[in-house]
Amino acid sequence: MRLKGVILAGGKGSRLFPLTKVTNKHLLPVGNAPMIWHPAWKMKQAGIEEILIVTGTEHMGDVVRCLGSGKDFGCRFSYKVQDEAGGIAQALSLGENFAGGEEMCVILGDNLFQEELGPQVQAYAAQGGGARILLKAVPDPHRFGVAQVAGDRVIDIQEKPTEAKSDLAVTGIYFYDRDVFDIIRTIRPSRRGELEITDVNNAYLQRGKLSFGMLRGWWSDAGTFPSLARAGELATQEPMPFPDIPRED
Ligand code: G1P
Repeated sequence: MRLKGVILAGGKGSRLFPLTKVTNKHLLPVGNAPMIWHPAWKMKQAGIEEILIVTGTEHMGDVVRCLGSGKDFGCRFSYKVQDEAGGIAQALSLGENFAGGEEMCVILGDNLFQEELGPQVQAYAAQGGGARILLKAVPDPHRFGVAQVAGDRVIDIQEKPTEAKSDLAVTGIYFYDRDVFDIIRTIRPSRRGELEITDVNNAYLQRGKLSFGMLRGWWSDAGTFPSLARAGELATQEPMPFPDIPRED
């Protein structure tokens, strides 16, 4: 199956101020590479070569300079501007034309992880449409979307609950079919004024079309100082094998 890829790299990165005073969070260093190179490389490894990057207006130029056309990665990158921070689902909605009715893998640009995505792509291909999320047991689930599962089914997802009903965080790695865009049109902004990806996943759940897998190896978001530092340490232990990128020195 040839999936398209979408990397969502918007937001103000306000929890990382002043690191984000003059740049986008996704351009900060993680191990030996800019943060956004990691999800791009994970997609490439899994055979996903048509990749859309969505980011805000402020640092779009730098994001393009950082990733380029994709030729150095052996991919094709396209770019789309998110005018204002309206949430992850709103950012994803900008990818409708790009997706062209095909299925896609979506990664939040601040999610760093060890596992290669090839087997997850194959598992999604085998399910024949719908959505698939990847879960990870964590000590601090209330910081994330939290999933409750029963056997091989997800039965509930709550976005940053005060009391988490399980320790299973919903990671920022998702697989969707074309229905995702119709679903996004039906959801309403949450209390924080954003279109939440958790509402999208719950809509698939209600339709009986949501599967899940467990993400193996380490996983860290990088949206806060401690998680950015942790992601950097973990990524440093396994330096990213660079594509053959010419250096400007
Ligand atoms: C977002 C999602 C959340 C998910 C997390 C993964 O949270 O809303 O469901 O668990 O990414 O990193 P945010 O980073 O916007 O706080």
